[in-house]
Amino acid sequence: MNLLSLALMRTQMARNSVEAEQFRDAMASFAAGVTIITTLDAEGTPQAATATAFSSVSLSPPLCLVCIDRRGRTHGPLLVHGCFAVNILRADQEWLSARFASSMPDRFADVAWQPGEHTGCPLLEGALASMECRIAEVHSGGDHDIFLGRPASVRVGGGSPLVYWRGRYRDLPVQAEARAGQGAASPSSRT
Ligand SMILES: Cc1cc2nc3c(=O)[nH]c(=O)nc-3n(C[C@H](O)[C@H](O)[C@H](O)COP(=O)(O)O)c2cc1C
Repeated sequence: MNLLSLALMRTQMARNSVEAEQFRDAMASFAAGVTIITTLDAEGTPQAATATAFSSVSLSPPLCLVCIDRRGRTHGPLLVHGCFAVNILRADQEWLSARFASSMPDRFADVAWQPGEHTGCPLLEGALASMECRIAEVHSGGDHDIFLGRPASVRVGGGSPLVYWRGRYRDLPVQAEARAGQGAASPSSRT
């Protein structure tokens, strides 16, 4: 490829790129579960951030990924501790999502948790599921880093998931149906 075609290709790529706002709007259409990613800093103090950029990657071996902002308080501790726990939130844990996305200094105040057996990372009480992971690889992804985690333990609880879609927390239709069903059923069940 000569220099002229390289320059043309670059111009074309620049023309084809979308603005951050457009990208955010499109991504907001993707309904996501909400997780709290926890770890420990060099002093052993819990650190955590709300994250929806979480995904399963592979079954054999089991691998998952989470994308974490390099400018956030949790990023450095993740690199130092080399482990994290994923806490998948239940529908009634919206307050935990807000708490761990806030700028509050002690975000763990009044939050019930236990240290994971394998990594010491906080496992939040009442989570829909929790998973301790050892960091297998870290890849750069723009202003975030992609942490590839190999699960060391899993714990699955009961309940319905907290869902984030188009900038708001949502109920799954199945939950709404269940509630409507309960509402309709309760008077007759009393008779
Ligand atoms: C619903 C929701 C989803 C979020 N998802 C992510 C994410 O996937 N990755 C990330 O780095 N930050 C994500 N954030 C932002 C972080 O939670 C937030 O910037 C961080 O906890 C602020 O912490 P800091 O004070 O350590 O910077 C999300 C926030 C909200 C409310």
